[in-house]
Amino acid sequence: MTDNIEVLISSAAIKKRVEEIGRQISDDYFGKQITLICVLKGGVIFMVDLARNIEVPVELDFLEVSSYDNATESSGIIKINKDLKNPITGKDVLLVEDIIDSGRTLSMLVRHLQSQEPASLKVCTLLDKPDRRTVPDVEPEYVGFVIPDEFVVGYGLDYAQKYRNLSYIGVLKFQETPDEK
Ligand code: IMP
Ligand code: MG
Repeated sequence: MTDNIEVLISSAAIKKRVEEIGRQISDDYFGKQITLICVLKGGVIFMVDLARNIEVPVELDFLEVSSYDNATESSGIIKINKDLKNPITGKDVLLVEDIIDSGRTLSMLVRHLQSQEPASLKVCTLLDKPDRRTVPDVEPEYVGFVIPDEFVVGYGLDYAQKYRNLSYIGVLKFQETPDEK
């Protein structure tokens, strides 16, 4: 099978938006220090670019959860594979996600992080697919782009671990080869 990718958000548009969000976060957290928590692996490229655009001091930490098993639909089962290195109690935490789809991952992560009593907890996501939301109780404070209900790859997002290194975000169009029809 060959995958066809159509550009949805160019790398120039991503760069501009990441700079804007970085400025907004720098203003909102003026005088504070932020603990940025990246949800691996999809959020990593966004988080490093975002961190470079934030002017207040930041600490970085990482979490890994699994919810998708090499498919485009959520299994509904979310597991923490890798937890934070440092405690976040009393810290100003900003959770950095690649995309919010059903909202299940975010809802579970927010509960997990809130239980450690950070001073504050906000969410920043590069992409939001609000049409797909089944768990509406948690909403991100910072959103890069609202996108339609399409499966996207690039700039950290994958399909079966591929395409994370694309500098743009594209819609993955699944093509059937003659044998598969
Ligand atoms: P949720 O729990 O349904 O909100 O799923 C969130 C996670 O599913 C994201 O962090 C991604 O890892 C993955 N995901 C959801 N939609 C897409 C997509 O369009 N492309 C790639 N990964 C996606
Ligand atoms: Mg993710």
